[in-house]
Amino acid sequence: MLTPVIMAGGTGSRLWPLSRQLRPKQFLAFNNDATMLQQTLSRLEGLEQQAPIVICNEEHRFLVAEQLRQIGCGGSHILLEPVGRNTAPAIALAAIAATGQDKDPLLLVLAADHLIQDVERFQASIEQAVPLAEQGNLVTFGVVPTHAETGYGYIHQGEELGHGFKVKRFVEKPDADTAATYLASGEYLWNSGMFLFRASRYLEELSLHQPAMMEACLNAMANTATDLEFTRLDADAFAQCPDDSVDYAVMEKTDRVAVVPLDARWSDIGSWSSLWDVSDKCESGNSCHGDVLLEDSHDILARADSRLVAAVGVENLVIVETKDAVLVAHKDKTQEVKKIVQRLKDEQ
Ligand code: GDD
Ligand code: MG
Repeated sequence: MLTPVIMAGGTGSRLWPLSRQLRPKQFLAFNNDATMLQQTLSRLEGLEQQAPIVICNEEHRFLVAEQLRQIGCGGSHILLEPVGRNTAPAIALAAIAATGQDKDPLLLVLAADHLIQDVERFQASIEQAVPLAEQGNLVTFGVVPTHAETGYGYIHQGEELGHGFKVKRFVEKPDADTAATYLASGEYLWNSGMFLFRASRYLEELSLHQPAMMEACLNAMANTATDLEFTRLDADAFAQCPDDSVDYAVMEKTDRVAVVPLDARWSDIGSWSSLWDVSDKCESGNSCHGDVLLEDSHDILARADSRLVAAVGVENLVIVETKDAVLVAHKDKTQEVKKIVQRLKDEQ
């Protein structure tokens, strides 16, 4: 049986000003009434599974607990990180929590900020991945690339293996020229950022490639405090943990990666332009949310939270209004919104 592990500790800074430190994007609802976190869990309905483990920053504990309760996942185990150390340690903590006397579940590791529109196909890919994970592979879910994206990991697909493929090489976030070469070759898939593996296999690979990280995570989990559904780590021990993502720390290094194709209208809602890509648009290519009036304007993503937003004669813009901040950005530059967030932090 699967144990879902939901990584919900990111900052979502490219979706500022809606995504904030107190409420990062995974806890917001963009495309329907449910938040990204809630959608992540709801799309597993029907799969045979154990109670999920959600791993997030301590400061979001009540937000997470409340959102889980709202969708009937009140029995989840919530692991609280005192500081973010990126995804490789986050998954290690969950793997350590999930293993124990005769327990070594398959972990279905999911990001809390993806949109997957074809749930049936998504679940079919998971079922296909199960035997590969049971054989000891670290399984990723690969998406056919549509452009030379530099924000994703790339998977060089090898020979067939079960219902998937061996992976010749895993390359996290290549530069633009490399990404273009990969795209042109037709031999690469995008890493969707979701994984399936046995908890013990992940921990073995981590011990091999990142022994300091493994040790810090074991120490952080050796001395935990539990109240209600929350588990708090040993903060001093976790502070010693190196910071790295699962992609660089493990997936690029291990030779036991397998990939199962995923064709389920997947997208990572990473920036305003990726949200715009998947939003419903009117004839002029505009996607509006809230009290918005556009005149002679096209290809606009506009959101108004608290006031009327009006624009005349503009194109290719993202306009996001909130109570205390307004963002206006060119649609091709939305990756750089995080620079604004960094400047705000630096000025604090
Ligand atoms: N608990 C916890 N702690 N979660 C975290 C942390 C952390 O320190 N940092 C990030 N996360 C969560 C985020 O909230 C998100 O749900 C998920 O982990 C992935 O992190 P991102 O920061 O969004 O990763 P990425 O988008 O740059 O890259 C990953 O996803 C791509 C696809 O969307 C990689 O796996 C790429 O290879 C992949 O292509
Ligand atoms: Mg992401």
